[in-house]
Amino acid sequence: MQDFNSMNIQMVDLKGQYEKIKNQVDNAIQEVVHSTAFINGPQVNKFTEEFSKYLDVNYVVTCANGTDALQIAFMALDLQPGDEVIVPCFTYVATAEVIALLKLKPVMVEVDPDTFNITAEIFEKAITPKTRAVVPVHLFGQCVDMEKLMLVADKHGIFVVEDTAQAIGSDYTFSDGTVKKAGTIGHIGCTSFFPSKNLGCYGDGGAIYTNDLLLGSKIKKIANHGQAKKYYHELVGVNSRLDTIQAAVLNVKLKYLDEYVKARQNVAKAYDEGLDKISWLQIPVRQVNSTHVFHQYTLKIDKTVNREQLRDYLEKKGIPTMVYYPVALHLQQAFRTEEFGKGDYPVSEALCEAVLSLPMHTEMSREQIDYIILAIKLF
Ligand SMILES: Cc1ncc(COP(=O)(O)O)c(C=O)c1O
Repeated sequence: MQDFNSMNIQMVDLKGQYEKIKNQVDNAIQEVVHSTAFINGPQVNKFTEEFSKYLDVNYVVTCANGTDALQIAFMALDLQPGDEVIVPCFTYVATAEVIALLKLKPVMVEVDPDTFNITAEIFEKAITPKTRAVVPVHLFGQCVDMEKLMLVADKHGIFVVEDTAQAIGSDYTFSDGTVKKAGTIGHIGCTSFFPSKNLGCYGDGGAIYTNDLLLGSKIKKIANHGQAKKYYHELVGVNSRLDTIQAAVLNVKLKYLDEYVKARQNVAKAYDEGLDKISWLQIPVRQVNSTHVFHQYTLKIDKTVNREQLRDYLEKKGIPTMVYYPVALHLQQAFRTEEFGKGDYPVSEALCEAVLSLPMHTEMSREQIDYIILAIKLF
């Protein structure tokens, strides 16, 4: 095998991506610095408009990060303490954290063992008279089967808050052929512009989107100290803003988002072709009706193989890997209750033991991909 030092394989290559758009990004940042409009500068409005067009959604409110986006979304829904919100057990902590923070009750549910996403059936089974909302998390870059999920939600009068932090750019196709972007199907969509996300800025950032006028204006107020007019506070809100510098970076990067998605899909295709025949792993299973934007390329490793040994072996060959996520939410100390313990969410628990994400980013070369495939084949 080749000398891996020359490969410089990384999980995410933000530097390589920056180099290609350096002039545009540097100019955009300089413009903000020269104007000193660091807060709510015109770049924020511009991004809000461009992003609404990209998503084809009526209202976009930018905010400080994806976790705030979820918190603000839930504040806008006027839920009462103890109201139940259904969330997947296998997700990033932020999804459930804000629910607990607002004194709502996160009700954890299993995910589909192949797509890693919740399903309409799983959701429906968990509904009780106290259920007020559900959070479909479009994990790793593909949408939950939203058409079915929305039917169940509508039938029971339940709010749908999509967590699309990992799936910006993903398209969902309805049975009548209508195509919608991830996050624009439920009542509210939330996303993150964390640097490594598919549309990442150079610090923290997030956004909330909706087609509902009342929710849109309420979300906008909540993100801005509960005010529409300066110093007149109608609601208890928060201070959560997207910095102008981050908006300036996003204005440049939004133009490349579809190209970035394509690059990720090409890496995934090459991995698929190279790894498909290996009996002890499962390549990512595609969700019906959704495109996959591959925020992560996540394998499932068979029990017959020691995943940690595989990770060590790959690391020695200069191939980083990550486990998203090592602990299911119900087993996290912060969410432990008397009600649930080990064994209560067998699918999520098994996934935590089995998943392995490979390097995935817009700058990967064919040489790097082939090297990774060969290394895995030789394990
Ligand atoms: C599924 C999911 N939800 C929410 C978040 C929170 O986003 P942020 O880190 O911007 O707060 C993330 C970020 O990693 C995420 O992956």
